[in-house]
Amino acid sequence: MSMEGTILFAVVGRTQYGFDIYSVDVPASFDSLRGETVPLTENLLTDGVSVNFNGSFARSEDGREKLLYVSERTGSPQLYINSEKRTPEMGPLHGFPIGEDLGDDGPSGLFFDKPSMHKDKVFFVSTQRGLDRPRECNTAVYSSCLTMGRTIRLTPKGVADFSPSLSPSGKWITVASYEGRGWQGDIHDLHTSIFVFNAEDGSQRRLVAKNGGWPTWADDDTIYFHRKSEDGWWSVYKVSNWAEAGDVVEAQRVTPPCVHAFTPACPTTPAQNWIAVATRRLDSKWRHIEIFDMASGEFIPVTEKLHPERHHYNPFVAAGSRRLGYHRCRDLGAVQDGEDGALFSLRIPRLEAMECPVKSLSLVRMEGFFPSVSPCGRFIAYNRSLAAPLTFSLNIMRRDGSKSWLITEENFFSSVWDPQREGIIYGSMGAIFAPPSASVQLAALHVPMDALTDDVDRVDCKLKVLTRPNTGNNAFPALSPDGKWLVFRSGRAGGEGKNLYIMSAEHGEDAEVRRLTCGEWTDTMPCWSPDGQWIAFSSNMHGVDEGSFGLYMVHPDGTSLHRIQPRSHGVTSSDQNGVHEVVHGRINHVKFSQDGRSIVFTSDLAGISAEPISLPNQFQPYGEIFVSRVDGSELVRLTHNAYEDGTPAWAAVSIKLPPQPQAEGPPLFASSGSEPLTGAFMEPQFLSQVSEEMKFACCVPRQ
Ligand SMILES: *[C@@H]1O[C@H](CO)[C@@H](O)[C@H](O)[C@H]1NC(C)=O
Repeated sequence: MSMEGTILFAVVGRTQYGFDIYSVDVPASFDSLRGETVPLTENLLTDGVSVNFNGSFARSEDGREKLLYVSERTGSPQLYINSEKRTPEMGPLHGFPIGEDLGDDGPSGLFFDKPSMHKDKVFFVSTQRGLDRPRECNTAVYSSCLTMGRTIRLTPKGVADFSPSLSPSGKWITVASYEGRGWQGDIHDLHTSIFVFNAEDGSQRRLVAKNGGWPTWADDDTIYFHRKSEDGWWSVYKVSNWAEAGDVVEAQRVTPPCVHAFTPACPTTPAQNWIAVATRRLDSKWRHIEIFDMASGEFIPVTEKLHPERHHYNPFVAAGSRRLGYHRCRDLGAVQDGEDGALFSLRIPRLEAMECPVKSLSLVRMEGFFPSVSPCGRFIAYNRSLAAPLTFSLNIMRRDGSKSWLITEENFFSSVWDPQREGIIYGSMGAIFAPPSASVQLAALHVPMDALTDDVDRVDCKLKVLTRPNTGNNAFPALSPDGKWLVFRSGRAGGEGKNLYIMSAEHGEDAEVRRLTCGEWTDTMPCWSPDGQWIAFSSNMHGVDEGSFGLYMVHPDGTSLHRIQPRSHGVTSSDQNGVHEVVHGRINHVKFSQDGRSIVFTSDLAGISAEPISLPNQFQPYGEIFVSRVDGSELVRLTHNAYEDGTPAWAAVSIKLPPQPQAEGPPLFASSGSEPLTGAFMEPQFLSQVSEEMKFACCVPRQ
């Protein structure tokens, strides 16, 4: 399909990750770790520049240790391999012709995760190109032969597998899978089960344990995994002799209540009776890697002694050695040039060009929310989340990201530029995600455009409030193409609903306010079509369930209200008998293309792509950016990642950013504008909340 211009979208937290992979050698005696001074040296294994995570050690035939890992140096997660040195010896592994003959089943090429290697084969999880069914996860395990350049899919069609792990002999793979159940919208405790299949061709697939994630091998007979226990604590469980046991095996709990222990990794040497886990403890707000000594039932802290106030993620252990790897945000105090010439990047780009599956479109990820491009196309207005979560300041940046200005520190969210008048930006003042009756006011800011110069960082503006006090929660303004009218959603009618209203953009509520939709549900995030004929918006009028916002269109005079069901081939919204099958799924923040023929929106139609417990907090990890025709046909998924992608804008201009870096070199962050890396991201809230039952489980001594 021909689509033009640029789609800008926001991510939550991800720009602050600054992850690098580090390793320590676990001493032979744990006694030395219990002391005050720690005999541990941490080694940096990745470039210190991009976002690097999810490593695994592999040994090549000549006995050299290699690191396989995921790096986002090109914007999207790709696989890399290093040996000894920090610079990748090999470029992204997807440089091999992979998945050519796999059609829609083939890997998207935009998402690769959790690599492992045996002989000349790399195993990994990727998202597939096409969608099987709406709101199904799309991840599958593949193997790619480095010498032959051939990729095969090991996960059956229609099944979603996560977190693959290769057995020490290279014969088996274990995964967490939704097999038979499908994704139900779960993002905390995933309802996956543990399966095993043959690494050669995916055959002999069987269920090993119900309810679990992140499986890992101790030896070819023994699998450890994590699960949220009935008492509320995340714990590590173990299944022994899975092959002999006929049916599903009863898993044995390994770690006790009163500490969350998850994402296990095992040393695969028989005599070693320990596992490495990530933990969250009652008395700490940090995620740390600890060793759980199976003989004594004791936890032994590792990373807490090195970097007490930093989160550490996803441990992995080298086969036949005591080398323990993990990732964390790099040292913020590090100098620009580390020893042996390593570059450290303590800056993050304001704008990042992403590879786009629709070749005629530009796709740009940004450090900021609610982007909106000025009528002349030279500036982008956007919201930034300040230190306090859910406070959104208003900012403006140049189109290439090279300079930005703070406009107001007050909450001014869902900002949008007037399509006719260069200096006017509309937004909502007050709390975001507030109930219908909360006082949230719509306002227009008059920005003196000549004041946006290189030598200043902030400009003061005149503010005009457009709504009257005590008119409830007014937000998400959108302008008619002539700039005369403003459609917004409001809770002013009282009751539980929020509906759409239209008023004069210039005079606000001093002139007339007209109600466009009516009902005890939520109509929100409206957008006006470029020809002025339609208003598209999100609503749950088909069923008052918070999780099921659908996409609707209505004429500005309130006629021809109808629902749009996005679909690609394979993703259908009605069956052969003409019976309307409702496609559940969230569709939010819809925007029209300049020619009015296409729309962009954020949705959970592709489920989730990774286990959220292994990442920092993502409120809505299922958020991905999609485009389709205005009638919902020709749906295409544009983003493939584990992050919350949201608030897209469709700009008519093509935003050209510096070229993507070479696989070998560091990313060219500095050349478009950047912000300092602060490492400020959150842990998943479900790991920090401790219920009364969980506290009670803590007090009961375990047998
Ligand atoms: C890393 O690997 C784990 C385990 O396979 C997976 O579940 C997780 O989501 C991966 N991705 C990230 C970004 O941590």
